[in-house]
Amino acid sequence: MSHDEFPTDRPAVVTCGLPYANGDLHVGHLRGYVGADVLNRALRKLGQNTAYVCGSDMHGTPIAVNAAEEGVSPEEFAMGWHETYEETFPRFNVDFDNYGHTHDETNVGTTKEIVRTLEREGYVYEKEIMVGYDPEADQYLPDRFVEGTCPYCGAKARGDECDEGCGRHLEPGEVEDPISVVTGNPAEYRERVHKFFRVSELQEYLQGFIDRLEGTSNARNQPREWIEGELRDWCITRDMDWGIDYPGEDADDLVLYVWVDAPIEYISSTKQYSERVGPDTYDWEEVWREDGEVVHVIGRDIIQHHTVFWPAMLHAAGYTEPRAVAATGFITINGKGLSTSRNRAVWADEYLDEGFHPDLLRFYLATNGGLQQDVDFSWEKFAERVNSELVGTVGNFLYRSTLFAERNYGGTPDADVSAEVEERIEEAIAEFGEAVNDYSIRGVGDSAVRLARFGNEYIQREEPWNLTDDDPEHAEQVIRDCVQLAKAIAVLFEPIAPGKAAELWAVFGGDSREVRDVTLDAALEPPAAEFDEPTEPFEKVVDERVEELNGKLAERIEASASDTEDDTTESESDEATDDGSGDVTTDLDPVTDERISFDDFQELDIRVGRIESAEPIEGADELVRLTVDIGVETRQIVAGIKQLHDVESLPGTKIVVVANLEKAELFGVESNGMLLAAGEQADLLTTLGDAEPGERVE
Ligand code: MF3
Ligand code: ZN
Repeated sequence: MSHDEFPTDRPAVVTCGLPYANGDLHVGHLRGYVGADVLNRALRKLGQNTAYVCGSDMHGTPIAVNAAEEGVSPEEFAMGWHETYEETFPRFNVDFDNYGHTHDETNVGTTKEIVRTLEREGYVYEKEIMVGYDPEADQYLPDRFVEGTCPYCGAKARGDECDEGCGRHLEPGEVEDPISVVTGNPAEYRERVHKFFRVSELQEYLQGFIDRLEGTSNARNQPREWIEGELRDWCITRDMDWGIDYPGEDADDLVLYVWVDAPIEYISSTKQYSERVGPDTYDWEEVWREDGEVVHVIGRDIIQHHTVFWPAMLHAAGYTEPRAVAATGFITINGKGLSTSRNRAVWADEYLDEGFHPDLLRFYLATNGGLQQDVDFSWEKFAERVNSELVGTVGNFLYRSTLFAERNYGGTPDADVSAEVEERIEEAIAEFGEAVNDYSIRGVGDSAVRLARFGNEYIQREEPWNLTDDDPEHAEQVIRDCVQLAKAIAVLFEPIAPGKAAELWAVFGGDSREVRDVTLDAALEPPAAEFDEPTEPFEKVVDERVEELNGKLAERIEASASDTEDDTTESESDEATDDGSGDVTTDLDPVTDERISFDDFQELDIRVGRIESAEPIEGADELVRLTVDIGVETRQIVAGIKQLHDVESLPGTKIVVVANLEKAELFGVESNGMLLAAGEQADLLTTLGDAEPGERVE
């Protein structure tokens, strides 16, 4: 790799993908922001001059759509969420040096300046393209306003992304058989002039870039396919009002595509920080203009934006390219995809309202798996890890060693640290440094947890409580070692658990610096000779608590399932449903553990049926009234299958029906039986051979 190891003599910036100002924050968001925060704090511990910046992503179609639904302006809508985020992040000890937003003056300025530079350098051209248009709604249909078929893989796709199939970014006009999301009507295409960025000209540059890029392997490897294939130019404008106006006179009815101005906020936010602290402390130009260390932490669904379009833009406009892109996996909840629309999520506020310390969740999210891996959150696993590692290992050692020291010596005994312990701390420091250089957030945490494990073994082995009378000198030395280990743990654990580390740091007193700002050498500096009685740093999460929290979560999911049954309009692709690589990692439920008996199964009377007639139910989005011949009789069945099927073509189709299900009423229409269908698309089950209506399925 061509980069110097951290710490380097150039300033670094750590960023995390900007959250869309579009809804409450949940654990899925926090994983990234905590991960990047850990990385930034850890870099600072290595002595790297670094800043952590971010901001709210205010533009884009979904925000415009949601604001319209609430009857407020997009700006007001997005600002509301922005303010919420500004308050929430610090409560999780996510310590941004600057948190701006993409609609602020700085970002509007930087964005226009960069676009103008791209134009000046010949990277922008105009092209007439066909853009989706809804005549009934009298509006253009950018991005998610239109849905259709992916031209690459044939999956159902949104206008801007093949979100359920191959994961490709789609350019305006590319999606086939477009349907307007506004009215549900087929969209028309109209010719419009748009601005394009010549990414294709930067192919050679990007090939070199991807070879230099550090970070997680998914971010370094996945883009090769795109970069080495045919690189296409990128449409950077949209027919919308909400966004940053395209600079200049000739295109004043266009705004910039949200993915142009959003990453530029990384630069703008750095500028704001630099302006606040002054360039002697931190100079944004050294970072973004003179080859500083740019490190992006992102979700793996936005790898393409950060490894193709963004570096292409930076390079063409004369800015520093990213040194690293670290892409995280997703979060699942109890083994299932996190889903905000189904309320299957653990919300940031909710977690804090339950009275848990933020550092517990930080620890869980940062160290439960490698950065690239998906992390499953469940209250059981959360309790398990808190209890075993934070309470049992780290807390246990910190508390017993400092308490013993305080009780017996009023603080740190007057002795030298043993060579064994000093070496062990040095080893932990080296592990920490390696982890940072590997962008391994978990590795950072492990270095501290392992040191605590060593501490527990050491104290067990030396049994200082048996030595105080017989060999007081040896006892003093052992406890001196233990207090040093505790101090080292405070330093090494600070990136993961900054709140708890600060409390512990206060115990050691006598150091006017904050544990946030000390470098790793502080791990080996002598602790205060005197300190106060410590308290236990971590508390167990008891079983009753887990049960209660599980109950609440289940109840909530249940409640939201009943009021959103017919609601399939909310896209979940912001969440854990797509890894962007084309692998389908959707929401598959694990097979339930509970088995049913053959007799139970026999109770189901399942029959082959044939649809005789089908008609949509007035006023219901998805429901269809069917008459179905099930051999012995004809049944009326109501089914939610309109989305996948052309209602007119249903008659004659053989289906499979649960004939002895209790009757139900849907939209005032009686349903006498249930047809079987697979998945969210309601793919109908049928028979392969020629079984006749009325035959039993068993
Ligand atoms: N808001 C985008 C998302 O949530 C991320 C923007 S990241 C940036 O997918 F690079 F554009 F800043
Ligand atoms: Zn596709």
